[in-house]
Amino acid sequence: MKKIALLLICYLFGVHAICQNTSTPISIIPEPVQMVQNAGVFVLPSTITIEAPIQPAVKTTLDILQLRLTAATGYKVLFGGQMPSATIKLVLNTTADAAIGNEGYRLNVKTANITIVANQPAGLFYGVQTLLQLLPVEIESKTVMAQVKWKAPCVTITDYPRFGWRGLMFDVSRHFFTKKEVKDFIDQMARYKYNLYHWHLTDDEGWRIEIKSYPNLTKKGAWSVAKVGYFGTFSQPLPDEPKTNGGFYTQEDIKEVIQYAKDRFVNILPEVDVPGHSMAAIASYPDLSCTPGADKYDVIAGESFMDWSHGAPPIALKDNTLCPANEKVYVFLDKVMTEIAALFPFEYIHVGGDECPKNFWEKSDAIKALMQKEGLKTMEEVQSYFEKRLETIVESKGKKFMGWDEILEGGLAPNAAVMSWRGEKGGIEAAKLKHDVVMSPTTYAYLDYMQGDEIIEPHVYATLRLKKSYEFEPVPPGADAKYIIGGQANLWSEQLYNTRHMQYMLWPRGFAIAECVWSPKEKKNWNSFAAKVEQHFKRYDLEEVKYAPSMYDPIFTAINNNGQLQIELATEIEGLDIHYSFDNSFPDQFYPKYTAALTPPKDAVMLKLITYRGNKPIGRMIAMPLDVLQKRAGVKK
Ligand code: ACM
Repeated sequence: MKKIALLLICYLFGVHAICQNTSTPISIIPEPVQMVQNAGVFVLPSTITIEAPIQPAVKTTLDILQLRLTAATGYKVLFGGQMPSATIKLVLNTTADAAIGNEGYRLNVKTANITIVANQPAGLFYGVQTLLQLLPVEIESKTVMAQVKWKAPCVTITDYPRFGWRGLMFDVSRHFFTKKEVKDFIDQMARYKYNLYHWHLTDDEGWRIEIKSYPNLTKKGAWSVAKVGYFGTFSQPLPDEPKTNGGFYTQEDIKEVIQYAKDRFVNILPEVDVPGHSMAAIASYPDLSCTPGADKYDVIAGESFMDWSHGAPPIALKDNTLCPANEKVYVFLDKVMTEIAALFPFEYIHVGGDECPKNFWEKSDAIKALMQKEGLKTMEEVQSYFEKRLETIVESKGKKFMGWDEILEGGLAPNAAVMSWRGEKGGIEAAKLKHDVVMSPTTYAYLDYMQGDEIIEPHVYATLRLKKSYEFEPVPPGADAKYIIGGQANLWSEQLYNTRHMQYMLWPRGFAIAECVWSPKEKKNWNSFAAKVEQHFKRYDLEEVKYAPSMYDPIFTAINNNGQLQIELATEIEGLDIHYSFDNSFPDQFYPKYTAALTPPKDAVMLKLITYRGNKPIGRMIAMPLDVLQKRAGVKK
């Protein structure tokens, strides 16, 4: 009776917290716009009938639904265009429902059946993703799990995205990832309702797309000497070292990936990063450089060749720029853009423009002559001249032009869209100039950064914790929302040597950004998001997708207290205890629990710690040498 009364309360007031199915709390990422939990549960029958529109754009959605409803359950699925008593109905509106737009959906889970209604096939796809997240986490299992009760809570959901551009960039230049790995990446992102894959296809370390009019780009430009360690600090490759590292996509591969993405309602934004970041192109076609001796250049294999000690732009030790004063460069770009535009249906082409060193241009007579002829006063104006010519080329292929925020310097090309990465400033400025903007600031959206303390994470030069990523607001104060077309996270691959580590870097921060670009701002809540992340970790365990558990590890603050080291500890998520030792042994729940700032005992050399939830270890065992903390605090030994 009490239970019926509780369900009635749920039904009348839609109170989520007390109504959740206790075995699997509702944990939808990204959070839907509106969700009401109703009384009861839907139980999956062992023969599932699905009515759906019979059309090519819905086929992959149905294939995914079928696979996921059968692999873990062992149940059977039957489809039809007309099935009046279907278990699950996917319906396309004949009259548009203005509230949900092109990507939204309405999902109604009742005890007897489930309906997903949308205006467009994309909405059905997203409705299916949400439905799968309502089922027990075991639905992600690749093998049959016999003991699970396959049920979903009864809910009424209305959902649609906040932004039309919900992007993830994945750099396949610094390290090459195969066509299959790229497809898996797209598959995974689509499940979290991302709709834009930004494919960073060219850089100093590799040209990854076949260009038929310039075959050396992939014959030479896609290959380097294989090395591991800390990328950017590798030894100089020797002339006789074999170039076995790399790879590229043929144009047929590219078409296949585009179709794969399209079936999952993901657009692909190709990026050809010029005029900087072009060593792979120059190693293939040295004529594209202003610098004598470029014919000796090779694709960069991860050795240091930029001096960042003076800030941006960097000083190049080898000239990795295309020469804006060289007409051959514009012929090259015209041909490359012709082939790219013919391959990629998406409306934009991204042309990079970031971190372009100017020190070789400063020495070049050709650049000096160009400046005189065109009345250009600064090197930024030289780059702007280049960008404007490139914009004309891109537009002549029927595409829109987009670049990183450096393209603002020296004057923005007339119709350029800007991807703001060096914080939000460039995006705010571009929006003021009435240019379209995608926000992708390092502050929140750089997924190549470490997600926890350097003592345990693979080394990268900066840190971005999950909680900070979750604070991403694509329309920051001062920005004109009308021009912010969306947000994006970027996964650079300098330190990504394999696909498992790629996944580790992507998740769970990819969940955070997904919610920031899909869900209404007022629906975001860190504590409930963190709880949902834990449910999705269970899904990933079953699906065998790697993720970073860094949110469970402590945050260190090293303080110089009058020459004495003091250590403050905190946790990113609530409800964890930190147990520690200074005696080099491995702490567990019987060791001291952190309650206040620690002062290390006189001769101690190591702080070891681990987080627990109750009596269960949840974080990783961390060994923090005290001299590392002393250095951070500026305390002398
Ligand atoms: C960038 O991160 N250099 C765009």
